Amino acid sequence: MSQEHIISHEEGGVLTLTINRPAKKNALTLAMYDALTQGLNDGAERGSVRVVVIKGVEGVFTSGNDLKDFSQNPPKGTDTPVFHFLKALVDFPKPLVAAVDGVAVGIGTTLLLHCDFVYASERARFALPFGKLGLVPEGGSSYLLPLMMGQRKAAELLLVGEAFGAVEAERLGLVNTVYPTEELEAQLNNKLKAIVALPPEATRLSKALIKAPFKEELERVMMKEGEVFIGRLGSPENMEAFTAFFERRAPDFSRFS
Ligand code: COA
Repeated sequence: MSQEHIISHEEGGVLTLTINRPAKKNALTLAMYDALTQGLNDGAERGSVRVVVIKGVEGVFTSGNDLKDFSQNPPKGTDTPVFHFLKALVDFPKPLVAAVDGVAVGIGTTLLLHCDFVYASERARFALPFGKLGLVPEGGSSYLLPLMMGQRKAAELLLVGEAFGAVEAERLGLVNTVYPTEELEAQLNNKLKAIVALPPEATRLSKALIKAPFKEELERVMMKEGEVFIGRLGSPENMEAFTAFFERRAPDFSRFS
């Protein structure tokens, strides 16, 4: 599926999915989720594709869910574009790479948990503001983050939702390597070339073995998160947070108990 804000390009065994909506900081609409899902499915099916890379544009990875689209068309169940995308990520059988050169918010950060390799520039910034938005963690982050960095740090990132930089992301295990911004593209290309040269079947089997011990529990958690997340969308706390964002003010949760 072609979509104006998701550019799909295959070359030399690499399928690149570029999120390209810079005017809205690459916020993801439902149509963009559908296009990303289609891109992942194409990458999984096409024999010529050895690796898929998800990237943004200069200075922006993605600011996560499009808050307007989300509040106007809230998902009513898990048979919806965001959940199809998450499922495609979890099931993706080949190496999956993300290149983060700028803001990665919400699902912009949680999608990285499903990538096999994440490379970032020095100016990359990450945030999981679910709590502040009156929402709850998604994308398996309530399970994968504590596994990756422990309960203490995960609670700080998921409940308080303060942004953190590339060096911290590398320290926490969210990012493989941080490069000077001007080097990211060239370093990424070197990594992709090395992945393309790997024996494809052994690589797929190895990836499946790495993921297998967590997959069943991850899927269970993602369903549960999805249920609670959907219940929170449109809640008074969530409405206050979304309204505050578009009114460019801090949210006020003092009236809630
Ligand atoms: N959904 C919808 N629109 C968004 C958006 C989002 N997630 N993120 C940014 N935008 C829009 C802004 O409304 C603004 O639109 P406008 O120019 O028509 O007013 C434009 O993109 C630029 O954003 P702005 O906030 O001015 O850029 P910034 O560089 O100051 O800040 C962010 C960038 C990403 C830190 C900030 O936009 C942000 O916090 N976005 C919301 C992230 C979020 O909560 N995501 C959802 C997680 S579930």
